[in-house]
Amino acid sequence: MNTPLDLKIKLLPASDFTLAELTAIYNQTRVDYLVPMPMNAARLADYISTYDVSLKRSLVAMQGDQLRGVAMLGARPDRAWVTRLGVIPTTRRTGVGEALTVGLLEQAEKLKINFDMLEVIKNNTPAHTLFRKLGFYEVGELLVLRRSPILPPDPVVAEAERLDRAEALILVGRNRGTQPWTNQSESLFNAQEVSGLHVTLVDGSRGWLVYQRQKFTLTRFIYKTEVGDPVKVAYAFLSHLHQQYPRLDTQIENIQLNDPHLPAFYKMGYVESFRRIEMWRGAPPESLQAG
Ligand SMILES: CC(C)(COP(=O)(O)OP(=O)(O)OC[C@H]1O[C@@H](n2cnc3c(N)ncnc32)[C@H](O)[C@@H]1OP(=O)(O)O)[C@@H](O)C(=O)NCCC(=O)NCCS
Repeated sequence: MNTPLDLKIKLLPASDFTLAELTAIYNQTRVDYLVPMPMNAARLADYISTYDVSLKRSLVAMQGDQLRGVAMLGARPDRAWVTRLGVIPTTRRTGVGEALTVGLLEQAEKLKINFDMLEVIKNNTPAHTLFRKLGFYEVGELLVLRRSPILPPDPVVAEAERLDRAEALILVGRNRGTQPWTNQSESLFNAQEVSGLHVTLVDGSRGWLVYQRQKFTLTRFIYKTEVGDPVKVAYAFLSHLHQQYPRLDTQIENIQLNDPHLPAFYKMGYVESFRRIEMWRGAPPESLQAG
């Protein structure tokens, strides 16, 4: 049977809509989401610029004059990111989510990008099944962690030097391999209020932390142990950071499950909020291998 014309799924560029309209449709698709993440237009604007989302290549799904769903595409050299996908609950299981995702993958191909990335919250079976169906495969598990400012900061255990934005971004560097999108260097380069800390311990261990300070929250950590034990180095930079900002909440996302620094985070009072599954489609091109 042919679908009546006005029930056919139409995909329109998200750039045809205002940020307020996109925010409203996104929020409608997430009313029953596993982890509540309500958006407002200002946060969406920030999201778009931090993560290089192309509204021209992002899509809104309509049937007749009814809005049905939205999906956004982040694009950086040699890689694309599928994000903010959602379908209005009453319209689910009618092919809109698949049409939106296929539409985004076609947009990436138009940019000659054949390597697509995404993260899906663990136990989100509908989305996980959809992505498997479209050729995405699991790469690993990622942690989203939070530390409450109610905890008193531990005493500092090392010398620390503060780094301004320019110094911090030099340390982050460019060639960091296939990090999850949110933690790629570009996300830090695009973010405001980025700075860092370099710590040196008495036993010679040393390393650094780069972070973003938002109004109420510390976030977007990138860190490295240059010499010594990662747990000791992380404990040292975290003790400095939380002494410096005792009143700020901390939320960090997409930390690899096998990150050797993790015990220091737990010792410092970080707890797991939830987990995501990292998925890829296609193979990472050589240009993205860490150098
Ligand atoms: C995930 C989501 C976008 C799927 O949209 P949808 O329009 O219902 O999906 P479709 O009808 O296009 O289904 C396409 C495929 O997805 C999978 N799928 C969708 N819903 C499913 C469910 N409830 N259980 C299992 N598989 C499901 C199936 O493989 C399906 O193919 P099939 O019909 O041949 O079995 C939708 O459930 C949603 O908006 N969820 C809330 C927001 C969300 O989770 N976004 C993704 C964040 S990563």
